[in-house]
Amino acid sequence: MKSISQNEKIIVALDVGTTKVCTIISKVVNSEIEILGVGSHPSYGLKKGCVINIDKTVKSISCSLEEAKLMAGISKIENATIGIAGNHIYSFNSSGVVATKNKEVTEIDVERVLDAAKAVVIPSDREILHVLPQEFRVDNTRGIKDPVGMHGVRLEANVHIVTGQTTLIQNLIRCVDQAGLKANEIILQPVASSKSVLSNEEKELGVVLIDIGGGTTDIAVWKENCLIWSQIIPVGGNHFTNDLAVGLKVTSDEAERIKINHGSVLPDKVNDSSNILVQGVSGIKPREVEIKYISKILNARAEELLGVVKRILENNQLIDKMNAGFVITGGGALLNDLVPFAEYYLEKPAKVGYPVTFGGMTNVMEDPKLSTVLGLLLESKSEDEEYKEIEFGENGPSEDVISKFSKSLKKVFKEIF
Ligand SMILES: Nc1ncnc2c1ncn2[C@@H]1O[C@H](COP(=O)(O)OP(=O)(O)OP(=O)(O)O)[C@@H](O)[C@H]1O
Ligand SMILES: [Mg+2]
Repeated sequence: MKSISQNEKIIVALDVGTTKVCTIISKVVNSEIEILGVGSHPSYGLKKGCVINIDKTVKSISCSLEEAKLMAGISKIENATIGIAGNHIYSFNSSGVVATKNKEVTEIDVERVLDAAKAVVIPSDREILHVLPQEFRVDNTRGIKDPVGMHGVRLEANVHIVTGQTTLIQNLIRCVDQAGLKANEIILQPVASSKSVLSNEEKELGVVLIDIGGGTTDIAVWKENCLIWSQIIPVGGNHFTNDLAVGLKVTSDEAERIKINHGSVLPDKVNDSSNILVQGVSGIKPREVEIKYISKILNARAEELLGVVKRILENNQLIDKMNAGFVITGGGALLNDLVPFAEYYLEKPAKVGYPVTFGGMTNVMEDPKLSTVLGLLLESKSEDEEYKEIEFGENGPSEDVISKFSKSLKKVFKEIF
């Protein structure tokens, strides 16, 4: 078993997705991340990003954790940064205003104005997950990123607030807990994916991150390096597979194989006379299907999904601000011809978003399916909290994770400014 020296920090990221649970264990030495172990296990306990079966989810988490620990040669891991999504997430923009105490903005004034922006009526069954500042206004000057030290009597803040349903957040925390881990931070999945996939330049120019997972498609809209919108759409790559299963009358496994090996969302690109052999359900003999027909099914779903994205952007007057276009990530981004279709349909440049890679196993990491977990790792690295050493440390404080969100927010403010 590896022992961890005093100047090394172990960080762990856990992405509990609808199709897979992925754990990455890494160490940080001199601010550089080195991947030590990766574990990935199919996920059976989630639907549309929400836990629907605790036992199955715990099992998937435990299996992926054990695999990562074995690869890393580390026997004990206690904390992890985890991601959250699901169709219970609801985000919105808010603002707050305060009078400065001494005609000069202090850090305390900033905290007060963020508290004021947070003080909106939230249904009692919901928790605030993130409060992300967008811009400050001191008296009549707008667009300020860091107002501390500026002269003025009136401080205003615009923020993006992310909320989730308490019971569903608690279910996820319980699963992580039962797998023997403490969630030291919970981060919205598209925020994490943005961290590993988007450049600062893109976020400055205006960009939409579209993370197409198995059960949900998560969007994060950035402009001037601020998150200006986020939303979880309860449609993901599995819906493409289900459409094929229903349309072709095949099993889900066969539909998944067909989607990955023969799927395209551009029927016009497909040869009219090409056929493939598909396996029928239990005992029905294999038959030939036109690839064009497969492509038409996938195209209809892609149009529906990107139509939802387009409507969200149009309803919020965001589409014209997106000068860097669209970055599509998550496993669904690998669907053939999705990028050219998105460019045509959304009338902006688009590309597949690959996560940044770190030292150790870089070739394995260049996969859009890993954008969230690698983003969580980056978030975890920049975390200011004390870390504990593996094997030798004491148990971390048993602070309720929900109450830790505010700390997590402070970290985000620091990062943004
Ligand atoms: N080569 C491929 N071509 C098309 N689709 C693919 C390919 N590889 C994976 N997918 C699809 O990607 C989806 C899984 O993506 P991902 O691993 O990002 O999801 P997840 O994180 O488990 O789910 P979620 O984020 O929704 O909770 C599945 O629907 C799968 O069919
Ligand atoms: Mg995912």
